[in-house]
Amino acid sequence: MNPIHLRAGGTSVVVAVDGGRLPRVLHWGPDLGDLGPDALADLQRAALPAVGDSAVTYPQPVPVLPQLHEGWLGRPGLVGDTDGRRWAPYFRDAAHTVDGSLLRSTARDPEFGLTIEVEIELLPGSGLVRQRARVVNEAAEPYRIGSVELALPVPSDATEILDLTGRWALERVPQRRPFQVGEWVRASRGGKPGLEHTLLLAAGEHGFGFRQGLVWATHLAWSGNQVLAAELTPAGTRHLAAGEVLLPGEVVLGEGESFQSRWQYGSWGAGLDEMAGRFHRHLRSRPRSPRPVVLNTWEAVYFRHDLDTLVALAERGAELGAERFVLDDGWFLGRRDDTSSLGDWTVDPGVWPQGLGPLADRVRELGMDFGLWFEPEMVNLDSELARRHPEWIFQAGHGPGVPSRHQHVLNLGHPDAYTYVFERMSELVGELDIAYIKWDHNRYLLDAGERPGVRRQVEQAYRLMAELKAAHPGLEIESCASGGGRIDLGVLEHTDRVWPSDCNDPHERLEIQRWTGLLVPPEMQGTHIGATESHTTHRVHPLDYLAEKALWGHLGLEVNLLTADAETLAALARWVAFHKEHRSLLHSGRVVHADLADPAYRLEGVVAQDKSEALYAFSVVERPAVWPPGRVRLPGLDDTLTYRVEAVYPGSVPGGVLPPWQSAGVTLPGRVLRLAGVEAPSLDVDRSVLLRVVST
Ligand code: DGJ
Repeated sequence: MNPIHLRAGGTSVVVAVDGGRLPRVLHWGPDLGDLGPDALADLQRAALPAVGDSAVTYPQPVPVLPQLHEGWLGRPGLVGDTDGRRWAPYFRDAAHTVDGSLLRSTARDPEFGLTIEVEIELLPGSGLVRQRARVVNEAAEPYRIGSVELALPVPSDATEILDLTGRWALERVPQRRPFQVGEWVRASRGGKPGLEHTLLLAAGEHGFGFRQGLVWATHLAWSGNQVLAAELTPAGTRHLAAGEVLLPGEVVLGEGESFQSRWQYGSWGAGLDEMAGRFHRHLRSRPRSPRPVVLNTWEAVYFRHDLDTLVALAERGAELGAERFVLDDGWFLGRRDDTSSLGDWTVDPGVWPQGLGPLADRVRELGMDFGLWFEPEMVNLDSELARRHPEWIFQAGHGPGVPSRHQHVLNLGHPDAYTYVFERMSELVGELDIAYIKWDHNRYLLDAGERPGVRRQVEQAYRLMAELKAAHPGLEIESCASGGGRIDLGVLEHTDRVWPSDCNDPHERLEIQRWTGLLVPPEMQGTHIGATESHTTHRVHPLDYLAEKALWGHLGLEVNLLTADAETLAALARWVAFHKEHRSLLHSGRVVHADLADPAYRLEGVVAQDKSEALYAFSVVERPAVWPPGRVRLPGLDDTLTYRVEAVYPGSVPGGVLPPWQSAGVTLPGRVLRLAGVEAPSLDVDRSVLLRVVST
């Protein structure tokens, strides 16, 4: 049987399906064009390596679910057993069907009574590939799943690995290393991807950047325990693997039961921009109204809630152009700090004697919609809920375990706990006409049940989000977990934006947003203008730099507007107006980054899909050894169009020395801007200039 060629969105995936074996990917990457049957047959022959007959040493090409039985000694595709038996399955006699751009392969191990179904799908709009497997236990004996891990091969030119790490208020720090023999493994075991999660694991050609070098990346669409691995075997097989990390006994299949793995996604590109652009296109396929400018109360007032202050804050926000008011933590029973009350989802009558109605009504009168903070999966031991239902709190056999931010985890797998949380939230959403939930998640799951309940907990959280949305059409949800601790395509099925970080310092935000952007488009990243002295780093920045770095995403104000002076308020209003004026470009265009040689500078921007206009920011992030910066080339434009390039200043003109061309702008062909560029300004550290580019 000839290989199957899936083609869409500029991507080709060629899959070998002969010999009754599970599917083997022969090519994943740039479109190979229209290939007839002879070419496909020869492609497969051309892909066979020059090895002898030692299948154990050289088991190529490797199926997307590699099997020990076929000689694979790398990371196993399926680990499972029945009391130590049925541990080395051999799936064979595979049958394959193609439905559009979905290849479905089903194979059996008759001796073990196991069936496996593998799906490989190429998504037409984006050119993303995704795959998953379902294992069915046909035998009467229970079958315990240890792991199901699929793998996407990358070619031998992929010699460098990129992944991300991080911590609270410093998420998504890139790290690179050579792709050498062995395994580079990134795992999350805390019931959520975590602040240190890599988002995706990429491998590319030596020195690949945003605009150059082929690069391939994988991501698991799942918000629970997981592993991403890059593996190079001594036989030269390179692949990117992904799967759920399952706890002991977490999945045991009875007769006729099955286990479905999460979708493993793969994206590739000539540079990271193209690779990320596929994820952006995928996430943008859902219709979405213009992203309303947010006013969030957290860094403005923290737990100091009172009606008069918050109404005054809302009024100020509305004057500046805010369109959504989000009341953060601190509104529910007894919640005066972070030591108590999680789980008691009732408005605190002491602080809010008339409830939240008057605030929500005033917010709507001002033309904004109303949002509210919840942390539905958590509970404080000091809460009415914990006192009434200690049995709803997760524990693994030694009590509720160590607190983190004074809190513990509520077992949403407990039907009554789930119903309680759903009903409390749904009532409030209905009563207060809540348009938006900021959904937080601050503790890792260390002790998730006497029998492990991590995956059930994540599924229940998804279900809660889905049921709330179904009950309240139009409701939006933000995924926040101490900042960017739960960002993945699984949660983004149910949520509308993510909170990339609790750090609003623009120096850090530039990097956090840049790297979160490998997966998430700007409009799905919350980007707020905080205080000039950052609450997390205590660095002080001019308002213009704070505002410029927040401009690109789902803009918000998170600062005490009641203590701001008139000049600051006027500048904020100008930035909000500038954002709204360019919002449709910012939230639909292609995100581009220049690969600048000097680490002291950054240039990034958004280019309209039809390339008729663009906006770039040139920033200085550290003191350069060489001065002035020289010319920067503007990426992503159309070579054949002519563009007017002007520096624009929604706030004030930054200090420093501006190049002569900025006084009057220049008009140049896209080809010149791409190849020759324009001289960059000499700015102080943490200053930027916006360049507006419009085709003439
Ligand atoms: C952690 C979040 O990341 C913050 O933005 C804020 O909502 C606090 N929790 C509230 O407790």
